[in-house]
Formats: sequence, structure tokens, C-alpha cells
Amino acid sequence: MGVMPARSLTSADREALAARLLEVRRSTEQLCEPLVTDDYLLQSMPDCSPPKWHLAHTTWFFETFILAPFEPNYRPHHSLFSFLFNSYYEAVGERWPRPARGLLSRPTVEEVFCYRKRVTERMTTLFQEANVATWEAILPVLDLGINHEQQHQELLLTDLKHAFGLNPLLPAYQSGTISGGGVDTSLRWEEYPAEIRWIGHMGSEFAFDNESPRNRVFVESFRIASRLVTAGEYLAFVDDGGYDRPEFWLSDGWAAQKQKGWAAPLYWNLADQTLFTLRGPQPLDPREPVCHISYYEADAFARWAGARLPTEVEWETAASGREVAGNFLDSGRLHPAPDAGGGQFFGDVWEWTASPYTPYPGYRPVAGALGEYNGKFMCNQMVLRGGSCVTPRGHVRPTYRNFFPPDARWQFSGLRLAKDGP
Ligand code: AVJ
Ligand code: FE
Repeated sequence: MGVMPARSLTSADREALAARLLEVRRSTEQLCEPLVTDDYLLQSMPDCSPPKWHLAHTTWFFETFILAPFEPNYRPHHSLFSFLFNSYYEAVGERWPRPARGLLSRPTVEEVFCYRKRVTERMTTLFQEANVATWEAILPVLDLGINHEQQHQELLLTDLKHAFGLNPLLPAYQSGTISGGGVDTSLRWEEYPAEIRWIGHMGSEFAFDNESPRNRVFVESFRIASRLVTAGEYLAFVDDGGYDRPEFWLSDGWAAQKQKGWAAPLYWNLADQTLFTLRGPQPLDPREPVCHISYYEADAFARWAGARLPTEVEWETAASGREVAGNFLDSGRLHPAPDAGGGQFFGDVWEWTASPYTPYPGYRPVAGALGEYNGKFMCNQMVLRGGSCVTPRGHVRPTYRNFFPPDARWQFSGLRLAKDGP
């Protein structure tokens, strides 16, 4: 992951990197400003983590993968924090069980902020004192740590929304109503001829290891929708009895929705046509992209609509020429917006693809514990593309591969339709 610099870093390069670290650390903390102390320990399901855990875990990542190997005379901030805040790295050691992260009332919120401050300071000191060789060794891990913290910024909000959404008080993370925005654009089918397509990361900018190596795939002709599926379109599927018509569903999807009692996307209230947002309940806008659906629901909707989900190579083919612009975390909306005509390939909602999350031909995870970052999850999950309205701007790119199990709904996940070519 990351790249080795072709030449030694100048002091200006070093300062820019240190500034990027401070900026990402600060913006995580800024996301916590609307929280009260009681919110920091919320864990609504094993898949979700409390805000306090996200704050500590991202700090543990820098402590473990940068301070421990590179800081002269390194000593841990606390002897048990690695046990508490290691997420899943078997090579690093034993961990506190994930479903019980919400039970840790200590360290306190204040102690976790103190942990953050100390580790950021120690990183800054290390940067100032590191020689060229150390810098070159740190650089790819620093890039990864910054991108890791950005992933957790999104997860922090996604997990918090889930916990707030369970509370009968339906608390708002932010105040105010969500303004409409966008214009109602009609759907066009963009056609691509059969061709050998390139997929995967190229160039010297940061990318995760699962985006490499770049490789060729033969793709039959296909058509892909010019915009996302809207809430109004999804509502028509619901009203057409979509959840009670097995002909649209995969066997696993049918079993999941019946067992879990799904009848609409997560956070929808059909009775009063509202949906729960980070600004509390809001009227359901039929023009906005449908969000918080599982792979199974996306797949069933597509079949009902006489279409299918795009594969990840089809999606990347259609997305790769486009500017990575859209409704991201930085817009502050924190909710998908109706299409303004830009096509919504980036931002708004993560788009389920028909592709299982598997390694590209020739994929090699990095050596050591960080090889566990992405590679070991390449089974029983599906690829999502494009980023969402809670993804930090600059974090995604056309080759970015997100992944979740097919029954996951608490992410900001929606879909775009595709069809076979004419
Ligand atoms: C890529 C979003 C599935 O949630 O575990 C966080 C991101 N990786 N820490 C996840 C991640 C390591 C990852 N997803
Ligand atoms: Fe993590």
C-alpha cells in the first residue's frame, strides 16, 4: 500500500505530511463536537463500534504501526490499550471481543482524547527527528494510517446513526432540515461496447492494496444508468409487493428479509412517509437516491425493474473518466441528495455491485500484520463503489473497492442499474 518515494522527501514534503496528519486527526474530533458524553459508549450491534472506540482505535493504529517500530525508546501509552483497541490483527495479539466494545466505560472519554493528543504529539516529534531512511519507511504506513482514520470517520457517523435510529427519541446529530437540492433528471442508458477493459489502481497516489494489481477483464457490451435509483422508484417496488414476491429474490435474500422482517429500507417509516437521518426524522423525498438497503434488496429491486446490478469492472469502466466530485462528508449535508445532473458516480451512496469481493489476479497483501488490513476479508462479501455522503472528500477514487456482507444495511448503500448491451 502506498508507494516508496522516488527521491528523498524535502522538508516541505515532510511538513505537508505532518499537516495532513494533524488535519485528519482534528477533523475526526470535530465530528464528535455534537456528541454528549453519554453518546460516546453507544454500540447498537456487534457490527457497530462506539464513538469512543473509533477515537481510540485510530490512535492505536498509529501507535502500533508507526510509533512502536520507529520511535526511539518506544513505550506504550498504556499497557492494555493494544488489547482494548486492536480491531482484528491476529499478528498483533489478543483482543477484547468486538460485541463488547460498548462495555468499556474506562478509559473515560477524556482519557481517550488525551491518548489521541499524546500519540499525535509523539508522531509529530518523530517526524521532526526522523532521518531520511526512517521517513521512507514511515511514509507508506502514514499514508495508510491517514486513510484508515478517514474510513473510521465514515464508520463513526454510520454507527452513530444506527444507534440514534434505535432510540425512540430519534435524536438528531445535527439540527435543521435537509434542503431539497438537485433537479429531477431523467434516466439515460449509457452504452459501452464489448471490449477488454483495464481495472485497478495505476500511478503513484495512495491506494489500498486490494485495488492492485491493475489487470484486464473481457467485458461484454453493457448499458449503465446515468444516475442512481431514487427513493421514489424504490417505493414503487415496495408498493408493488416487492418484498412478498419471491420471483425477484435470491434464496439467501428472501430468507434474510423474511427472518429479519424487512419491508422497506432501513430507517424508512412508511406510515408517515419519513426516514430517519442524522438530522432526525425528515420527509421522504422521492427524488433522493434510495439508501440503507442490503445487497439482497438492491439485487431484488434490479430484477423487478428488468435490469441488474453492474459488475465492478462495468462500474469502473463507466466511472473512470469522471471527475471525483459529488456530495461527500465535507458538504455537511450527511444525507444523499437528488441528482443535479452530475450522474452521482461519487458521493451520495455506496453502490452495490454484482461482484464478490475477491483478489485481483496477482494480488499480494503487504508483508506482516498490515497484510491483514484487506486481504483476509475476501470471502462472502460484495464490492461497493463510489463513496457516500459521509465519506471524506478525497478519500475515494474510481478504483476504490469497499466491501460489506450482502445483508448489511446500516452503511449508506444504494444502487445504480445496469443491463446487458443491445
Ligand atoms: C472497508 C469499510 C469494510 O469497516 O472494516 C477500518 C474499513 N479497515 N479499519 C471496515 C476498515 C480497517 C473496513 N471497510
Ligand atoms: Fe480500523
